[in-house]
Amino acid sequence: MKLKRIILLLLTVMFSFSYGEVFAKDGNSLKKALKNKFLIGVSVNTRQSSGKDVAAVEVVKKNFNSIVAENCMKSSVIHPKENKYNFTQADEFVSFGESNQMAIIGHCLIWHSQLAPWFCVDKNGNNVSPEVLKKRMKDHITTIVKRYKGRIKGWDVVNEAIEDNGAYRKTKFYEILGEEYIPLAFQYAHEADPNAELYYNDYSMAQPGRREAVVKMVNDLKRRGIRIDAVGMQGHIGMDYPKISEFEKSMLAFAGTGVKIMITELDLTVIPSPNPNVGAEVSASFEYKKEMNPYPDGLPEEVSKAWTERMNDFFRLFLKHHNLITRVTLWGVADQNSWRNDWPMRGRTDYPLLFDRNYQPKPVVDLIIKEAEKNKISF
Ligand code: XIL
Repeated sequence: MKLKRIILLLLTVMFSFSYGEVFAKDGNSLKKALKNKFLIGVSVNTRQSSGKDVAAVEVVKKNFNSIVAENCMKSSVIHPKENKYNFTQADEFVSFGESNQMAIIGHCLIWHSQLAPWFCVDKNGNNVSPEVLKKRMKDHITTIVKRYKGRIKGWDVVNEAIEDNGAYRKTKFYEILGEEYIPLAFQYAHEADPNAELYYNDYSMAQPGRREAVVKMVNDLKRRGIRIDAVGMQGHIGMDYPKISEFEKSMLAFAGTGVKIMITELDLTVIPSPNPNVGAEVSASFEYKKEMNPYPDGLPEEVSKAWTERMNDFFRLFLKHHNLITRVTLWGVADQNSWRNDWPMRGRTDYPLLFDRNYQPKPVVDLIIKEAEKNKISF
């Protein structure tokens, strides 16, 4: 009887391991492997959400269960003039997510970049009064959030409001309303769709100054009873920044406030940074230099190996803390789609994503799947 039980146990173990192996080799998808850990998302551009980029759409459908709009919901696109909204692309994006049963994320309501030029100023270019800006913010947020009410899982309500040193970024919103523009934005979004999750999203979150300021901001919101569900840590990382331990420290600090963590906008650049201090500030721009574009025709083996290891290390960290993390989102489908090829220097060739220029999964995809599967087998 005892022997029978031991044999049965042994068979189960063997089956579980070989199942994991075959599963991975079979091209098992990221979303299947990570199913019980966290959502695995990707940003899509309009050629993808409209279905034109057929190869990319296949990759998205097979591997990801969440999408975020790369550009089409930013104020300059969706609300180019005070009395003009342009919903065509955003509608298409939301329908794309729905027809593929994905968790749809709205990005982003209040942000200083890609800001509609009219938003904070009057006809003469002077800052509007606090009352006018509040009204404009409320109209903007209410109109957009209500339009997709019940269809969007969560919104990046405020994007990038804090600087490296923890000071509030001196945006027009801040100039006119002070730090109060942040709770106001969250409140307007909550009123427009009480069931939507609401997020604060920022880059360089491993910086101690920003870490502290974000913790304080989240605590303040919570103390005032204002809804905030998660902190989005943009993952625009490089081969030597941030330190994984500092990133982990921030994850734990944010989770300590009681909100969930999301790794948003993940991409790992492998080409040199013209200035590491720019974080992910989209307005940064440097003149093209050939020596800053070292791999136009492909990555040398050892560089590719180092990239795989580092990306894998980050996923191991995410898996380790999967109980704190609700979503990990890649900032782009395949390498040629990445904004990193053109930012902060136009015309370079980067390799920051999980799928290569032929839409094939990179070796790291298999490693992530195996790691997730390994965690599944527990006796
Ligand atoms: C980027 C897009 O990927 C580019 O296509 C666009 O030209 C600039 O913005 N932080 C964010 C994202 O929150 O919205 C930015 O996306 C990258 C940095």
